[in-house]
Amino acid sequence: MDKLIITGGARLDGELRISGAKNAALPILAATLLSHAPVRIGNVPHLHDITTTMELLGRMGVDLTVDEKMNIQVDSSTINSFVAPYELVRTMRASILVLGPLLARFGEAHVSLPGGCAIGSRPVDIHINGLIQMGADINLEGGFIHAKAKRLKGCRLVLEQITVTGTENLLMAAVLAEGTTIMENAAKEPEVTDLAHFLNKMGAKIIGIGTDGLTSEGVEKLGETTVHYDILPDRIETGTYLCAAAITGGRVKLKDTRPDLLDAVLAKLVEAGAEITTGEDWIELNMHGKRPKAVSIRTLPYPAFPTDMQAQFCAMNAIAEGVGVVTETVFENRFMHVNELQRMGAEIRLESNTAICTGVNKLTGAPVMATDLRASASLVIAALVAEGDTIVDRIYHIDRGYDHIEEKLSQLGATIRRVPK
Ligand code: EPU
Repeated sequence: MDKLIITGGARLDGELRISGAKNAALPILAATLLSHAPVRIGNVPHLHDITTTMELLGRMGVDLTVDEKMNIQVDSSTINSFVAPYELVRTMRASILVLGPLLARFGEAHVSLPGGCAIGSRPVDIHINGLIQMGADINLEGGFIHAKAKRLKGCRLVLEQITVTGTENLLMAAVLAEGTTIMENAAKEPEVTDLAHFLNKMGAKIIGIGTDGLTSEGVEKLGETTVHYDILPDRIETGTYLCAAAITGGRVKLKDTRPDLLDAVLAKLVEAGAEITTGEDWIELNMHGKRPKAVSIRTLPYPAFPTDMQAQFCAMNAIAEGVGVVTETVFENRFMHVNELQRMGAEIRLESNTAICTGVNKLTGAPVMATDLRASASLVIAALVAEGDTIVDRIYHIDRGYDHIEEKLSQLGATIRRVPK
């Protein structure tokens, strides 16, 4: 397994381009299953989760071609299997996103149950119950969700809890259902919105996009002609590089991004002492050499502070001035980075779903590893200011969600290298 070796101390300064959003690309690739004509997807990030999704679609018989710019053309007319096998779902929970489109278009899906993961138990009951309400016949057997339906029927769905992939799965099912589906308490994350725009571009009739009330009037067929769609920028990658620059007291200008998707994060960075300037598609952060001030955050669904930025802010609080209280309300167990940060000298106390971070004057490099993507990113960020070398192990987690992280950080002046095993 590859490792990253980071020597702390360099103040980041420079410019970067932000990649397309992983969490929009995954549902949009799954949604290509709904199209009759081939679909072209652009601004796809170069990530391991994208490769896994392509492998998943490929195993179903779907024809995929990728060019050197990561434009992916998907033609699902050659599909010959409706199975998402355990070995792929196990490595990427988002494989569950093929359930809705397979069922809606082909009347059949066999998707391995994802099970628990490093950040909590993460059930998929809301996905399943919604499909049952739409008339699907679902059996759970042998660790698989076996779903069948002649044609799904539109209905009123009130989601018990806000769920991003749950909303996406049900929306992808609803677009081909007979009649109207009204979804209440839907997730309104920008990635859900991006998927909805893509579905409409293929001919779906969704209204209420960007709100928690989505209405879809089912159509018979989607994608009569080839559609080209560019994925929106990754707001979490954006936030991660902003934190990386902030922790070092540095400056960064991020291009090809969307400041309007990061209101809650930018507000907290300003509270931490950053000067932020924005244009339509860029964000610049400048700490003017200052140490960040600790900030308190509470994770909640969009547009509030995202859980996917919680670990990075814990890292920043670890060396900030003062005490920051970080409360995680979306996942029950998303603090695996805390033990590793403590090993680098951080003073963080965990009390159930709250991390109380008392900033220290310095962190020290250490061998560390993490068991999920954003936790790993927080260790990289901490390493940028730690004294000496930090060796971050198990970086396959990082490769799942950050496009060429060591190249991008090097471009900003960080001392970081990948050591292949
Ligand atoms: N939940 C249920 N039942 C369900 C579905 C969800 O109880 O049927 C609960 C979950 O256990 C959790 C909460 O609802 O406590 C919210 O989970 P959600 O379903 O929204 O999460 P997700 O759709 O599995 C997506 C992102 C995550 C991101 C969360 C929250 C993708 C592929 N993944 O996960 O991204 O943290 O939404 O915003 O879109 C990441 O990129 O690192 C990542 C983990």
